[in-house]
Amino acid sequence: MSHHLVAAEGLRYRYPDGTPALAGVSFRIVHGESVALVGASGAGKSTLLLLLAGSLLPQEGRVLIGDFPVTPSTLPAVRRSVGLVFQDPDDQLFCPTVADDVAFGPRNLGVPEEAVAERVRTALAKVGAEALAKRPPHRLSAGEKRRAALATVLSMDPGVLVLDEPSSGLDPRGRRQLIAILTAFTHTKVVATHDLELALETCARTIVLSKGTVRADGPTAELMRDDALLEEAGLERPASLRRCPACGEGA
Ligand SMILES: Nc1ncnc2c1ncn2[C@@H]1O[C@H](COP(=O)(O)OP(=O)(O)O)[C@@H](O)[C@H]1O
Ligand SMILES: [Mg+2]
Repeated sequence: MSHHLVAAEGLRYRYPDGTPALAGVSFRIVHGESVALVGASGAGKSTLLLLLAGSLLPQEGRVLIGDFPVTPSTLPAVRRSVGLVFQDPDDQLFCPTVADDVAFGPRNLGVPEEAVAERVRTALAKVGAEALAKRPPHRLSAGEKRRAALATVLSMDPGVLVLDEPSSGLDPRGRRQLIAILTAFTHTKVVATHDLELALETCARTIVLSKGTVRADGPTAELMRDDALLEEAGLERPASLRRCPACGEGA
């Protein structure tokens, strides 16, 4: 499956209890792009990521990964090429050790055990977590858990990385490490976040979601200076783009 495209075309989704989540979302992301998905709580970010990763199926419209629409028959291929990192690492880590968790996906695919070991080493190295291999995940710090969860997805060697609020619960150092890891991942990535500073540092392009629709789609640095847009979308200009209240410098 080629990874040259991630696209949404007229996507609509309503949860079984009747709550509307997406009300017609369209965009195209090409190979190698990093796109931030921002918007107020409830805007539909998580739902959109679940649809991109094939964890939910569209009720109207379609998702394209590579050349294929996501349908029940393409799901296995979609799930191999799109790696979804959940908002809560505890949803991703359930084995006795970090190494087992990172090995879980490749083992499930039937990758030979020697190659699995190599994948585990490589994935843990990418997130600087080699020393965590033998540790039980539930004993890790928030930042360590986050990196371990990322490694469980990287071991599948996805062409597209999709992350839901990756900086939530991280201290400043953990956040720095995360930004470095995301910047080093040169494949296509989509990052849903309320952390506009993270968006600014890791994604050249931003899609602003508002009430289940695309309110804006463009260069992150431009959108983050558009106070009217940010206000309307329930967001605030990142601190690094604000003027210093004391001296008026910056922005
Ligand atoms: N499992 C669910 N069942 C019913 N409604 C849901 C469910 N998950 C999310 N929603 C609703 O769908 C809308 C979009 O939610 P979500 O995609 O989680 O937004 P975001 O990630 O931007 O906060 C919200 O109104 C939310 O309450
Ligand atoms: Mg969410």
